[in-house]
Amino acid sequence: MNRKASLWAVSLFVVLLLLVPSAGHAEKDDDDKPLKPVPKAFADKHMPKGWWTDTKIIAEGKKIFETREITYTYKRKEKTAKDGCATCHAINKKKDRPKKRGARDFRVGKRMHRFSDSYWFWRTSEGVKKTSMPAWGKELTEEEIWKVIAYEHTWSHGDKPAVHEHKEIERSVEK
Ligand code: HEC
Repeated sequence: MNRKASLWAVSLFVVLLLLVPSAGHAEKDDDDKPLKPVPKAFADKHMPKGWWTDTKIIAEGKKIFETREITYTYKRKEKTAKDGCATCHAINKKKDRPKKRGARDFRVGKRMHRFSDSYWFWRTSEGVKKTSMPAWGKELTEEEIWKVIAYEHTWSHGDKPAVHEHKEIERSVEK
């Protein structure tokens, strides 16, 4: 092959690589960054016993996930998420990523297996600053937050109830 031909071959190969959809679920570039330590006030929040795998609790969590409305402020504008968490976290099947770009993809076990229950509760309750993730603490009761978490948890287990026991769980708490 002369130089020009091999250059063409290489370019074609690169273009083909770009066209092949990446395998597995879309991952965010911060999926493997260490998690922030949990504020002290949340360190003692724990999933009620048996709820990770309780199908009734999970079904109730799904309902909250898909229907609970919230009004929140993002970039100084007031917005309403009409379909609960699903407004942003439901999967856009065509694009194989959450509806809202940048929203956490709960299917990605690489990250979700690292959430302690307290971390999960804290993030849901207080939201994530500088992102559109709203603080749900005033909107949902503690029990409702745990139900939603129990439902979300099934996403990283092929939509099936499972215990949340992973060697990767991070438990750092703010000093
Ligand atoms: C308006 C959009 C929106 C809605 C509605 C929303 N989220 Fe989020 N959520 C986000 C975004 C964006 C992120 C990513 C924040 C980041 O970069 O860490 C996120 C992240 C998260 C995280 C992960 C935080 C982390 O540290 O990785 C959890 C848990 C979460 N959301 C739970 C929920 C739950 C539960 C609901 C419903 C009760 C909900 N979200 C509704 C936008 C939303």
